[in-house]
Formats: sequence, structure tokens, C-alpha cells
Amino acid sequence: MAMACSFGEIDGTDGFNDVDPVTNTPTPAVTDPGAPVVTPGGGSTNNPVTNPGAPAPVGQGFDADDPFQSTILGQQVKGIIEQNCAQCHANGAKSGDMDYITDFESLVKNGKIVPGVKEDSQLYARMVQNSMPPAFQRDQRPTFQQIDQVGQWIDELPGLASDECEPVALMTSDEQIQAMAEDTAKLDVEDQPFTRYLTVSYSSNAGACGRELDRQRYALMKGINSVSTETSIGNPQPIDKNNLI
Ligand code: HEC
Repeated sequence: MAMACSFGEIDGTDGFNDVDPVTNTPTPAVTDPGAPVVTPGGGSTNNPVTNPGAPAPVGQGFDADDPFQSTILGQQVKGIIEQNCAQCHANGAKSGDMDYITDFESLVKNGKIVPGVKEDSQLYARMVQNSMPPAFQRDQRPTFQQIDQVGQWIDELPGLASDECEPVALMTSDEQIQAMAEDTAKLDVEDQPFTRYLTVSYSSNAGACGRELDRQRYALMKGINSVSTETSIGNPQPIDKNNLI
């Protein structure tokens, strides 16, 4: 698995170079930075709508199935994205191989939005980490309130059916120790004293499965690698059938 650093995955072919046409164009100067930012979707940062979940008024070419159009919040989010992201990620601009930032279906299909889970949605995660727009983009960045709006909108989207998962069978401490003992017995004698076992069973035993459990596994992998003195990224190998230890 490739390892994401705080700047995300940058490869040689799709790094910052392909932004050049955009960054070379001077961004229009903000004349009054204190003025409320009006988003095309209606509403402004200083004047949030009272009921953002309300259905949007029906206009021309309105698509009730497009979450970017069907609620006022969705329209505001689309405005935020158009204002802060589209110049690099839509209309032919394809930084990070993503030229579909205003196309809801493509965002979901490519895993940039996970409906109902903002933490797993790259679109939100990169904004909240302040790594998108890239740091050099100073004049045009979303406000904290706008980032919150994007998160709220993603959390309120109905989740995907594929997110449902079967609970994993409870694993008692005895069963875990047994599995570790059996695994140790299979190792070279010299390796035995140096092998360590970590589990995510605390999470599966509490009812987590599917995506939630994967998040725990990922956190474990990241935690281990961040305290490792090795030069390469290692991935812990599971020893049990449910990949808990
Ligand atoms: C000035 C150009 C620019 C702007 C503006 C910009 N991005 Fe990016 N974006 C990039 C570049 C370059 C990459 C690839 C490098 C990286 O991943 O850091 C990227 C990558 C990404 C990725 C990762 C794609 C992947 O590989 O999964 C996401 C998600 C993303 N941007 C979201 C956003 C969002 C959301 C905004 C607006 C809030 C935004 N970007 C604004 C240039 C930009």
C-alpha cells in the first residue's frame, strides 16, 4: 500500500507540475478580504441559512437526484467547491488526476466522497487538514465555516448499501492468546523473542466491522510506521482469519 504523507500522494507524473497553467495565471486580487464571501449556491459565510437541509427551490435544469442541487446546503457546498477547487480539479484542469470535483457521481465512484462519512471522504479530509487547496494558494481558501458545511453535507448524505457489514465474531482474551501462541510456535526460534502482536479486537468486540474496522487497522499501521526507525514502510501481517491480530 502506498503511504500517504501529510501532502497526500505525490507522484512524479502528477505532482504540482500540472498546476502550472493555473498558478501562472495571477489570481484576482481580493479587494476587500473582510467582505462576506458569497457562495454561488446562495447564502454567505456571515449569513448561514436557517434550514440548510431544506429542499432547494426548483429552477431550470434542476436535478433532484444530484445532491449538489437537491438541498440548499448541497448548492452551497457546490459553490464552495467551484470557488476554491474547480480551477485545478474541473473543466479540463486535472491536478492529482481529478478533473471531476463538481461531478457528484464521479466523486463517489472514485472514493473521494464516502456518503455519510466525512472522515473517509478525501474531499473533506484534505480541506480539514488544510492540505487542499495547496499551501501556496493563499488568496482563495475556504473558511472554517465553509469546511464545516462540506463536512455536514457529506455526513447527511444517505450511506452506501455496500457500507453495511456483518459483525465479526467476539474474540475472547484466551482465544487471542491462543492464536498468538500458535503463531509464535511457527516462527524461527531466533525470531520468537522479537515478535510483537497488536490487535484491533477491542474494536471488533465492541461491534465495529467493515470500513470502521479498516480504519482501526490503518491507524495501527500508521502508528507503527511512525515510531519505526526503518527506512521503508511496513505493513503488519494479520495472523487470524478475521485479520484482527
Ligand atoms: C492550485 C491548484 C489546486 C487547488 C485550488 C486545489 N487543488 Fe486539490 N490537488 C492539487 C494538486 C496539485 C493535487 C495532487 C497533489 C496532492 O495530492 O497533493 C491535488 C490533489 C487533490 C486530492 C487528492 C486526489 C487523490 O489522489 O485522491 C483531493 C481530494 C483534492 N486535491 C481536493 C481538493 C479540494 C477539495 C480543493 C478545494 C477546497 C482543492 N483540491 C483545490 C491542486 C489543487
